Amino acid sequence: MPASLTQRSLQAVWHPCTQMHRATHVPPLGMVRGAGPWLFDEAGRRYFDTSSSWWVNLFGHADADINAALKDQLDLLPHVMLAGCTHAPAVELAERLSRLTGDVLGHCFFGSDGASAVEIALKMSFHYWRNTGRPDKQEFVCLRQSYHGETLGALAVTDVAVFRDAYDPLLMRAHLVISPDARQAVAGESTADVARRAVAALRALFETRAERIAAFILEPLVQAATGMAMYDAIYLREVRALCDEFQVLLIADEIAVGCGRTGTFFAFEQAVQPGAAPIWPDLLCLSKGISGGYLPLSVVLSRPALYAAFLDDDVARGFLHSHSYTGNALACRAALAVLDRFDRADVLQANRQRAAQLTEALAPLREDTRLEHVRQIGMIWAFDVREPFVGARFAERFHLAGRARELLIRPIGRTVYLMPPYVLDAALSAWLARQLRATLDDVLQANHPGADRPSEPAVA
Ligand SMILES: Cc1ncc(COP(=O)(O)O)c(C=O)c1O
Repeated sequence: MPASLTQRSLQAVWHPCTQMHRATHVPPLGMVRGAGPWLFDEAGRRYFDTSSSWWVNLFGHADADINAALKDQLDLLPHVMLAGCTHAPAVELAERLSRLTGDVLGHCFFGSDGASAVEIALKMSFHYWRNTGRPDKQEFVCLRQSYHGETLGALAVTDVAVFRDAYDPLLMRAHLVISPDARQAVAGESTADVARRAVAALRALFETRAERIAAFILEPLVQAATGMAMYDAIYLREVRALCDEFQVLLIADEIAVGCGRTGTFFAFEQAVQPGAAPIWPDLLCLSKGISGGYLPLSVVLSRPALYAAFLDDDVARGFLHSHSYTGNALACRAALAVLDRFDRADVLQANRQRAAQLTEALAPLREDTRLEHVRQIGMIWAFDVREPFVGARFAERFHLAGRARELLIRPIGRTVYLMPPYVLDAALSAWLARQLRATLDDVLQANHPGADRPSEPAVA
C-alpha cells in the first residue's frame, strides 16, 4: 500500500508550531480538498474549519469568485517585482484600502506574511524618527499577552513565553505594559474600568520614557493568539490620545482582527465614539484574511506625514526594505476579489446575522459551570475551561476529540475558540454548536476535577 500523505509528511516536512516529537501522537491530517467551510482528508473524512485555517480563510475554501479572479490574473501577469515596476492589482488594492480609511492612511507598503508587515511597521517607525531629527526614539512598547509574529523583530514585541524564551538572547528589549484584557475585571469593575487601568500604566511609562519611545504596537480589540483576550474599545481611544500627547507612533496590528473579523472592516473603527470624528493609528498592518486565505500577502498603511518624512535626494533616507514577492500580483488580485465581496454582498451586515445565530446556538455554554469568560465579538467566539477541569494536554486532547466530531479545532491553552469563515447559516451554526458542546463533554468527562496535572503551554 502506498504511504499516506500523513506518513510521507512526517518523513519530509518540518511542520510549523509543532513539537515534531509529538507529531506521531497527533499526526497531521492529509488534506486533499476544500469546499466552503469544509476540508476533506485523504480518507474522505470531512472537517469543519473552525479557525478558518489560522484566521485567513474568509469566504470558505475554493471560493468560486476568488478562483475566477486568480485564474484570470494567472494568464495576465502572475508576478512582477514591485521595485521599478508596478501593476494594476497592487495599485487598485492600495487605492481601495486607503479609501476604506477615508484616505487618512495610504501609501501601502506590501509584505508577504503578517510578521513581515510587523517588521516593516517597526522599522518604519524607528526610521521616521531618525529622519525627523529624533534618532533617540528607538524603543518599542507592546502589551502583555501580545502576539505579533515570530521573526526576530516581531518576536521582540510578542509576550508568549513558549515562542520567545528560547530566542530571548537574540531579541531587542521592548517595554511591556499591562493588557486591557477584560477578563481581569475584579468584582464591581467594568471592562472600561479595566481598560482605564491599563491606560494609566501606559501613561506612567510614557511620562518617564516617551523621549526614547518610537512606537506602541497593539492588536485592536482582541489579543488573538494568546487566547482571544477581548477588551473595551475605550482603550484604543485613550491610547490614541496618549500617543498624540507624548509623540509616540501608534501601530495597529490588524493582521488577525482586520477584514471584518470584529464586526467592522478595521477593528480600529470601533475606537470612535458615536457621532465623533473617526480616529486612526499611524500605521496599520493587514494580512491573513486580506487575500481570502489563498496567498501570502501583507500590507502596511501609513499616514501621509510619515511617508513624507522618507522623501529626500538621499537614498538612505528612503525606506529600502523589500521582499522578493512584495505585492505579488496574484495575491493582490485575490485581495481585490475579497474587497469586491465586501462591497457586493454587504458582508458586515450578513455577519451580524450570522453572529447572532451562532451566539444563540452557543447560549447554553454560558450556563456551563465548567467554563468561564464566555465571550464574543463579531465573528470570534471564545471561552475558557476552568482550571480544575483542564487536565493534562487539554488542547491536544480537545483537538483530537474534535477531529472525531468533524471539527478542525485547536484550543489555545485552556481557551477554546471559533473563528469560522463568513459562510455560516442557521443550520450550520446549530450543527457547529452541537458538535462543539459534544466535543467539550467528551473531553471534560474524561477529566477528574481537581486532579493536579499540568496543562501544556498555550499554542495557537
Ligand atoms: C496579531 C498578529 N500579528 C502578526 C501575526 C503573524 O502573522 P504571520 O503568521 O502571517 O507571520 C499573527 C499571526 O497569527 C497575528 O495574529
